[in-house]
Amino acid sequence: MTAAASREAFGSRAGFILAAAGSAVGLGNMWRFSYQASEGGGAAFVLLYIMMTLMLGIPLMLAEFGLGRRGQLTPIGALRRLAGRGWARIGYVFVIGGGLILSYYSVIAGWTVRYAIDSIWHGFPGDSGAHFASVASGSGAIAFHVGFMAATIAIVMAGIKSGIERVSFVLMPALFLIVVGLAVWAFTLDGAGTGYTVYLQPDLDELLNPSVWRAAAAQAFFSLSLGMGAMLTFASYLGKDQDLPGAATIVAFTDFGVAFVAGLVVFPVIYSLGLQGAVSQSTVGALFIALPGAFDAMGAIGRVVGLFFFVALAVGAITSTIALLEVVAASVIDEFGISRRTAALGAGVAITLLGILPATNLDLLGLMDKIAGELMLIAGVLVISILAAWILRHEVAEELAAGASPFWRRQVPRIMAVLRWFVPPVITVILLVSLKETIAAIVAFGG
Ligand code: TRP
Repeated sequence: MTAAASREAFGSRAGFILAAAGSAVGLGNMWRFSYQASEGGGAAFVLLYIMMTLMLGIPLMLAEFGLGRRGQLTPIGALRRLAGRGWARIGYVFVIGGGLILSYYSVIAGWTVRYAIDSIWHGFPGDSGAHFASVASGSGAIAFHVGFMAATIAIVMAGIKSGIERVSFVLMPALFLIVVGLAVWAFTLDGAGTGYTVYLQPDLDELLNPSVWRAAAAQAFFSLSLGMGAMLTFASYLGKDQDLPGAATIVAFTDFGVAFVAGLVVFPVIYSLGLQGAVSQSTVGALFIALPGAFDAMGAIGRVVGLFFFVALAVGAITSTIALLEVVAASVIDEFGISRRTAALGAGVAITLLGILPATNLDLLGLMDKIAGELMLIAGVLVISILAAWILRHEVAEELAAGASPFWRRQVPRIMAVLRWFVPPVITVILLVSLKETIAAIVAFGG
């Protein structure tokens, strides 16, 4: 029995789009985006981020969709089948990158669950810095990480249609409702205006800062789940009749929309209480300190709002962790021909064990995010653009046209031209900036 003969598939187009959007919408949108925006000059970052999503993100997502549906296999097998053995090695790097991201991502997801539970039982503590330090260390951090991974493993074991697709159908609409509701509430806060100004009024100096460019591009890749074969894997479960460009556009706009609206919650809340200083206290923990501090200062209403906020984060996180584990598990299934249950369990347990390291060491977590969540993704999208637009140009163009609406079919040559001439050079520059910064971060970690 070959993997292709028994390949699973999504039950519906909406199911695929919700699952892909579920993978994209996650901690990246609500925690990482707001943090990056506050570091990168607020609105300047937001503006660059929109540009990166449109000019790089959507074409790259299409490159992954095209390669995945064409290959009908996960990254390793698809690259081997389409481009030869040498490329399959890059597929391994993708899968390892996905495993690395999942190992620390689940740790952060565990914090969100813990904050949500805490808000029910005793509200948000006055000293949110000390509270975060205790949440993000010791056996508690490990326990919540293990719990989150257990839930992830259970869903992936259930399969594409009855696991991932079904969960996304329920959770994604719930998440939209909560985030929009929170943004409406944040609008009513006294002093929300300052938050909006910082968030939406660009600082022109920051617009020309290469670091902000690098940060905006890396954030776009992370948030759209690009550069490690996740979208490639999802597309491998699709039929030829699906409109790939249409789907990519919906997924990218949904992802941007949730990040943007989450910013409309985070900035007013933090600025209305004058807590912006707390955001730069610690890189990974920023929002886990500043926001709970604000919720605490708001009393009872803060407790309710905080509960919804952290529940939304946890919901976004689980639809992403299942996608991350899916990439690793599906690769194991395709490569070794073992059952889904065994593959999901085996890969999940290995990643859970690896995650114990970042669960107990915040600096390591930050470093892993820089290496696997930025540098490897940037290198990954560069490889994908070259593969899709230089080496497998005709195959990918054909794939993007198949099933596309007449409008999108006419755009395919343009999309391919962007992927061929624009995307690789821009990403090469971004990769060099990122390389420099990552080396500095590794040196700082060692010293
Ligand atoms: N996009 C996810 C988020 O914003 C994180 C992520 C990166 C991801 N790469 C992925 C999720 C691959 C699933 C698959 O939170």
